[in-house]
Amino acid sequence: MKSLSKASMNIHGQPMFKYLDRARKLEAEGRSMIHMEIGDPDFTTPPNIVMAAVRALAEGKTHYTSSWGDLEFRETIRVATYNSRGFLPDLNQVLVLPGANMGIFYAVFCLCDPGTEVLVPDPGFATYYSSIKMCGAVDVHVPLREEHGFRMQADDVRKLITDKTRLLIVNSPNNPTGAVMTRQELKDIYDLCVEKDIYLYTDEIYSRMIYDDYEFTSPSQYDQCKSHVILSNGFSKAFAMTGWRLGALIGPPDVMERMYMLLQTTSSCVSPFIQSAGTEAIRGPQDAVYAMMDQYRERRNALVSGLNHIPGFRCQMPGGAFYAFPNITGTGLTDVEVCERLMDQAGVVTVPGSCFGDYGAGHIRLCYATDMQSIKSALHRIKAWAEKLWWEENHASM
Ligand SMILES: Cc1ncc(COP(=O)(O)O)c(C=O)c1O
Repeated sequence: MKSLSKASMNIHGQPMFKYLDRARKLEAEGRSMIHMEIGDPDFTTPPNIVMAAVRALAEGKTHYTSSWGDLEFRETIRVATYNSRGFLPDLNQVLVLPGANMGIFYAVFCLCDPGTEVLVPDPGFATYYSSIKMCGAVDVHVPLREEHGFRMQADDVRKLITDKTRLLIVNSPNNPTGAVMTRQELKDIYDLCVEKDIYLYTDEIYSRMIYDDYEFTSPSQYDQCKSHVILSNGFSKAFAMTGWRLGALIGPPDVMERMYMLLQTTSSCVSPFIQSAGTEAIRGPQDAVYAMMDQYRERRNALVSGLNHIPGFRCQMPGGAFYAFPNITGTGLTDVEVCERLMDQAGVVTVPGSCFGDYGAGHIRLCYATDMQSIKSALHRIKAWAEKLWWEENHASM
């Protein structure tokens, strides 16, 4: 008898794409929309990276390559890990991936049986929840409290660990809040994972996107990814390479061996010319990356300051990534209502915080990977909308 699998019914995707689709529909009807919903840089990939791929294609790098990844690229990742995190992983710890998203699924699939529990940040990246459900495991949400600057606390994690817990996911800088965890907070989390003997998956895709005096630290330095820590990174954000689909994992050899087999089974390998681009991204000049960060910093400052001048909005200054996550409870509306009204009435596309888990409710996410003029226009539109709302509410109660 024809029927869909239980696993497929548990695939939830990324709910934010629903808002993009709706915005595109309104645009097709002639409405002007400012897009702040998807975490995709408005910059194109730096030319030296593009040219590295072009050269590789011209040189005939058009074949299958090792499922582990191209040797030169993996060596580059090893050295980059040494420079940024202070340890040189062994070659059999490094696996190249078609995007960091894939690493999340691979980790859950290889580490969790149906019914086992995975601790996830909430608010957090929706792929975590979907991958866990899809594998029949249970997502247990660790609250990232606003009063703690949305940084995960070991005490909150400890309360949620049971004998079914297999894995904890941390993400610093965090999507959707931009929060950067401190060295001590990450050390406490790492110690707890070792004490309870659970894996720690550290999603560091925003590691190169840190502002001001915030410090990037990685729990991978403590065990050098030899026993408990699996480190994930990707090229999409800092190098503006979302469309290239490139990431890498570093982890304990036995875990990586399994993930390698999974990758071999599902996608054979990552395209070799894409890996040549990745090598250039890491080894080549970093001026373009710094220039993008300078612009993100300016945009962040303008956006957060502007949001804090809007009635009903209250926004913390994010230390990394490119998202602002204001609390909108002062509007008297839910996050879904605010997003829908901002889209329909103000032409600004945002994502409700509840798309990132229940603890995200009462907030909305705005991505500032868009030009300054659009950010200023969006602030203008949101302010006019919020002032009208405020006036109507107060007028009605008079
Ligand atoms: C926290 C986090 N992890 C992973 C990813 C996936 O990135 P990639 O484009 O490399 O699949 C994203 C993308 O938005 C993200 O925000």
